[in-house]
Amino acid sequence: MPGIRAPSNYSEEPPRHPALKINAKEPFNAEPPRQALVSSYVTPTELFYKRNHGPIPVVDDIERYSVSVVGLIEKPRELFMKDILNLPKYNVTATLQCAGNRRTAMSKTRTVKGVGWDVSALGNAIWGGAKLADVLELVGIPKCTSVTPAGGKHVEFVSVDKCKEENGGPYKASIPLIQATNPEADVLLAYEMNGETLNRDHGYPLRVVVPGVIGARSVKWLDTINIDSQVCQGFFMQKDYKMFPPSVNWDNIDWSTRRPQMDFPSAICSLEDVNVGRNGKIAIKGYAVSGGGRGIERVDISTDGGKTWKEASRYQKPGTQYIADDEKSDKWAWVLFEAEADVNSNTVIVAKAVDTAANVQPEKVEDVWNLRGILNTSWHRVLVQVRHSSM
Ligand code: MTE
Repeated sequence: MPGIRAPSNYSEEPPRHPALKINAKEPFNAEPPRQALVSSYVTPTELFYKRNHGPIPVVDDIERYSVSVVGLIEKPRELFMKDILNLPKYNVTATLQCAGNRRTAMSKTRTVKGVGWDVSALGNAIWGGAKLADVLELVGIPKCTSVTPAGGKHVEFVSVDKCKEENGGPYKASIPLIQATNPEADVLLAYEMNGETLNRDHGYPLRVVVPGVIGARSVKWLDTINIDSQVCQGFFMQKDYKMFPPSVNWDNIDWSTRRPQMDFPSAICSLEDVNVGRNGKIAIKGYAVSGGGRGIERVDISTDGGKTWKEASRYQKPGTQYIADDEKSDKWAWVLFEAEADVNSNTVIVAKAVDTAANVQPEKVEDVWNLRGILNTSWHRVLVQVRHSSM
């Protein structure tokens, strides 16, 4: 591959922030501490979770790096960075979330397979780049196309990195052509994150960002865009990131019975890690996010295990009141929340969010348990232990 290469081992990994909690070293998978996560609306790049399936690619010559656009189109083309940079630039604030976020809590019910994430396998960033809809127009596909004259209905993204799940082949995923060519869907080929050039961990020089959809479809280190008649047949679309009912186990699983997961299903919450409190008032902070661009209508907090609830205040950008689905709100981004509670003895604090489609987080993790441990949307609970001061 000209200009960029996939190392065969982990000797060329980039430097990483020491505060990250490492869940797996090779490939590198890490998330920030809970408190750091909810302390800012835009997640600092160095603390943003990192989810990899192989060694991080190395760019040797950015001038020679290109993306091939091929498949069921009239004008296949090689696009260089300058072609992408020549297109109008958009900044989209979007939360990226791994489908396996909160997997560890699911594993406590019954063991599941996968990297053991706590509640921080997500982050909110300002992604800068070209709209995929504009890129596809360069190869002759008009805006809002659902099928090309040659029968292309899906846009497959093939990357540079090599992973063992693909038997040493590249990571890949696809989205429907209608989503890719709809400018309102804000799908980006991003070259910036939080106002700076994308770093190696997050996909330098170019990555896909599919807002409102599980992180697995936002392919990093883009190599090829393939317009295909069918959904990508790669491992991560067909044999992973699908949601099965609790009755399915590793003996009776039939992968073909389920579709690849796309949207986040509902709101997900996290509380700040307030494990130790003092007698009296505590501040509760967390995030709520829904898929498909749906806003957060409400976040409820309970200090008696879910018998009674009070509403938390919600916010995004400093100085702007958050109103769900309002044009001033960032539709693809998480909503942070805050509440105060009086806690006099050890208490379990519970949070649940409701999105604008009235999706409510389910109470029990058992009801959403699935063998791959994805999409744990259940109420989030945190034990606050009160320390009585001897003074
Ligand atoms: N793209 C490539 N090429 N290789 C990968 O391993 N991981 C995916 C996605 N894109 C992955 C990838 C998954 S599962 C997630 S959740 C996001 O990237 C994580 O993006 P981040 O590391 O920038 O947070």
